[in-house]
Amino acid sequence: MAAAQLELRQVTKRFGGVAALDGVSFSVPPGQIFGIIGPNGAGKTTLLNCISGVYRLDGGDVLWQGASIAGRAPHRVAALGIGRTFQVVKPFASMTVRENAAVGALFGSAEAHLPPRQAFERADEVLELVGLAGKAALPVTALTIPDRKRLEVARAVATRPRLLLLDEVMAGLNPVEVDEALEMVRAVHATGVTIVLIEHVMRVIVGVCDRALVLHYGRVLAEGEPRTVLKDRRVIEAYLGERYARQQGG
Ligand SMILES: Nc1ncnc2c1ncn2[C@@H]1O[C@H](COP(=O)(O)OP(=O)(O)OP(=O)(O)O)[C@@H](O)[C@H]1O
Ligand SMILES: [Mg+2]
Repeated sequence: MAAAQLELRQVTKRFGGVAALDGVSFSVPPGQIFGIIGPNGAGKTTLLNCISGVYRLDGGDVLWQGASIAGRAPHRVAALGIGRTFQVVKPFASMTVRENAAVGALFGSAEAHLPPRQAFERADEVLELVGLAGKAALPVTALTIPDRKRLEVARAVATRPRLLLLDEVMAGLNPVEVDEALEMVRAVHATGVTIVLIEHVMRVIVGVCDRALVLHYGRVLAEGEPRTVLKDRRVIEAYLGERYARQQGG
């Protein structure tokens, strides 16, 4: 088995008396697409915040290529090549789509810090990659919700991450839009980026993920090959429900 690119060891995060994450461990080898699922409030976004340095851990460790990065500030984590999107999309409203994408290239990881002209070239590349090239000149306010999520991915990809953390970039999309978003994830992955993605849409998990992890009340309920995980009794009972189990013929 390949050495881990990202590894979490017993990660714990509390808010007041509540453990949003309670001893979460897993590892992601380079080049994998790793899916994280679980009910609302399970701790998924908290997990990304712990990896990207937004939150300090209350216990455990986060390792990047074998070295601890716990306690580093978000810009330092980003400089290592760990990019992310946010669940609530907040583009710079007064700027165009192209300018928003260029921000990622201007202020990205250390090796990706580009002078303005090259930042715009990089913006054009990533907009092409996520399928927004035709809308580059539009004000960001003119974008539909799916397109705003694409732009959020474009901004993160423009920083040239080696690992990309995606927080529900397909939430609220219709089935056709989900298919397009899957294509986008595959296209980004094909450039050599490891991906950790949070999704509620099971078709996404089965469609692109090499492995899936189920969080439940801040703990790992199951982890493994996606189809196997989705058939797990405990996962069905805690999260997917009986109707889903019947649909799957299990
Ligand atoms: N900054 C915070 N302060 C206090 N409590 C928080 C904070 N962030 C998250 N929590 C709590 O931690 C738990 C996990 O929240 P989190 O946002 O990580 O869940 P999630 O799995 O991303 O849910 P969703 O599917 O709704 O996005 C919840 O009980 C939430 O209320
Ligand atoms: Mg969340």
